[in-house]
Amino acid sequence: MKSETLLEVAAKIAGQAYAPYSEYKVGAALLCADGTVFTGCNVENSSYGLTICAERTAIFSAIKEGRRDLVALAVVTLGEHMPYPCGACRQVLSEFCPGEFSVYVATVGALEDYEVISLGELLPHGFKLID
Ligand code: THU
Repeated sequence: MKSETLLEVAAKIAGQAYAPYSEYKVGAALLCADGTVFTGCNVENSSYGLTICAERTAIFSAIKEGRRDLVALAVVTLGEHMPYPCGACRQVLSEFCPGEFSVYVATVGALEDYEVISLGELLPHGFKLID
């Protein structure tokens, strides 16, 4: 699948985000080796710390289906600031993905100006207890 297509899927699911507090809506699309795409959006809560990011929603959705063949992730926001994954999401990604795993980030207003960053660049020394 083309990275542009994955970004478009992420942009579409961002519309499902529940973000009444930050008003910063994010969508994530996680590509598996056979072309299956798992999606996620951020879901906020009155108790702010319970909020879950779009990236983790997508990753957990794939893992609960028994998937481990994760290939790439696209993250798109309807907001203006680039949705670089937060530290918690980087650590969760590192549990399942190698350093070469590609993360595409973009704002919906400039989808064509996306950036691609490897997980190794995002999290050079992630914590690991198993290889
Ligand atoms: N958020 C994401 O879903 N992914 C990111 O990459 C950055 C932040 C969400 C969490 C919260 O709902 C809102 O954006 C503002 O932090």
